[in-house]
Amino acid sequence: QRFVKSLSFALCLGAAAATSSLAQAKTFRVAVGDGAGGTQHELGLKFSEELKARTNGQHDTQMFLNGQLGDEQATVNDAAMGLLDFSILAINNVTPFSPSVGVLTLPYMVQSLDDAVALTQGEVGQQLVDNTVRDAGVRIVGWAYSGFRVLTNSKQPVQSLSDLKALKVRVPNNEIMIDTYRAWGINPTPMAWSETFTGLQLGVVDGQDNPYITVYAMKFDEVQKYITNIRYLFSIEPLIMSEAVFQSQPDEVQQAILAAGKAATEHSARWLVEQEDKIKAELTSRGMVITEPANGEREWMDNAISKVWPKYYDKLGGKDNLNRILQSLGRDAI
Ligand code: MLT
Repeated sequence: QRFVKSLSFALCLGAAAATSSLAQAKTFRVAVGDGAGGTQHELGLKFSEELKARTNGQHDTQMFLNGQLGDEQATVNDAAMGLLDFSILAINNVTPFSPSVGVLTLPYMVQSLDDAVALTQGEVGQQLVDNTVRDAGVRIVGWAYSGFRVLTNSKQPVQSLSDLKALKVRVPNNEIMIDTYRAWGINPTPMAWSETFTGLQLGVVDGQDNPYITVYAMKFDEVQKYITNIRYLFSIEPLIMSEAVFQSQPDEVQQAILAAGKAATEHSARWLVEQEDKIKAELTSRGMVITEPANGEREWMDNAISKVWPKYYDKLGGKDNLNRILQSLGRDAI
């Protein structure tokens, strides 16, 4: 019994020491899934600048790009355990840990930057922040907006679902996205983000989807030739913080973090508008060929909505909840 008592005393001391060293941390470590020049990197730069300004230079960040601190999904676990301070990653890689954020990966839910801003910065976004703290032990403190995910591949122009059948396509380990490709008639290959460049390079898979800016930041133009301008998912990329680390900060530091995250979020929306067309043009100048999907993407959209949405009604709070969200975006109920 004495052993148990002294063990718990030691654990308490250890926890107190960990808490106080976290409270004094000046340079937070930030894992970043993508490479330099993408929306994740830009969000991190702005967040760091704002945090420094709001803490009189006391608090700063160090970013580790290109998945150096581990695959995006692994960083959620590390942050939940307090082993990592922050991570910037795609929302689709948070969904496995907090199912309600799946509303942001439901195909064709977000149809513009305005929809993305309204959802993340409004009531729905606040609910998702709370749910993610509860389910995953991480707090979303900012959002990057990266534009629509487009399909890239190394083999051929793709316009229709029958063209798609010729390809092996990598998807994140996200059940909604896997089901979307199934609704389009193929069985995609789930693969960690940190392995995707190599997978494309070695021909383990022929294609993948991600926004223009991400394709550029990851240098996918070196291993992919064709782009299909599908608009099934608008990529939203949160800055998440370990809830344990957040709670160990003094109130004024917590407030500075939240305010810096808000400022960086607003910057991200402006940056996307300034950059996306330039980056698209840069990719074509490097030899990538952009194709529009046949018939305005009708068959892609109809299949995804009719086959995928009903499967996720329960996980996403029910059909009525999705209808409320659609109506808040000024769209028709389903
Ligand atoms: C993925 O495809 O796994 C992510 O969307 C990649 C990213 O974080 O940019």
